[in-house]
Amino acid sequence: MLKSRTLHPQQALCRKNLRYASSALNNRKQILRSSVMTAAAPVQALPYRVGHGFDLHRLAEGYKLIIGGIEIPHTKGCEAHSDGDVLLHTITDAILGALCLPDIGQLFPDTDPKWKGARSDIFLSEAVRLMEERGYILGNIDCTIIAQKPKLSPHKENIRNSLCTLLKADASVVNVKAKTHEKVDSIGEERSIACHAVAMLVRKDLVTTNN
Ligand code: CDP
Ligand code: ZN
Repeated sequence: MLKSRTLHPQQALCRKNLRYASSALNNRKQILRSSVMTAAAPVQALPYRVGHGFDLHRLAEGYKLIIGGIEIPHTKGCEAHSDGDVLLHTITDAILGALCLPDIGQLFPDTDPKWKGARSDIFLSEAVRLMEERGYILGNIDCTIIAQKPKLSPHKENIRNSLCTLLKADASVVNVKAKTHEKVDSIGEERSIACHAVAMLVRKDLVTTNN
């Protein structure tokens, strides 16, 4: 006979979440079948959700270099269907990922002429809207831009302030780092630029302010 045992709180939470997910899935089968993209499906009410984002763009002459909504003076910019803002694309995917939603390319296909030359803050604002709709706010975000050139440190504060505005967040929870790629591979050879981000979302009803 199997001995009954007390579950560790994390195991109990896992089981509860599994039961919730299974019944939620059954209830929403119809909605999900018709449209995964637009369903305002409730995500599990976890206290925290973590998401990772990554993006890479080719660098080419004749394009503006826009990072985090800031135009950076440089001889090349990101080739893209939209404005090619590698940092905003990355953050958008980190937030969508935390919510277990489809990624930026699924929500805003680069085959859709509607997004040609679009400002990437549109994509990020939609991710923020979806986050708020599901009852979350940004806990904190940590981003790493990987670019051999240009030197980004003189622009990091501008970029961070721009992100704070777009994310409706305080500077104390938004971090931007820059790395070279030690001159190797496409990034190091200045043929591309990439970015990583990890975002943590916090359930809004759990956040207390000190004012
Ligand atoms: O020294 P380590 O290999 O860790 O870093 P690196 O890639 O050589 O970058 C050195 C410093 O330059 C970093 O701490 C960044 O803050 C800065 N950096 C920058 O301002 N702009 C870049 N495109 C790359 C790096
Ligand atoms: Zn992109």
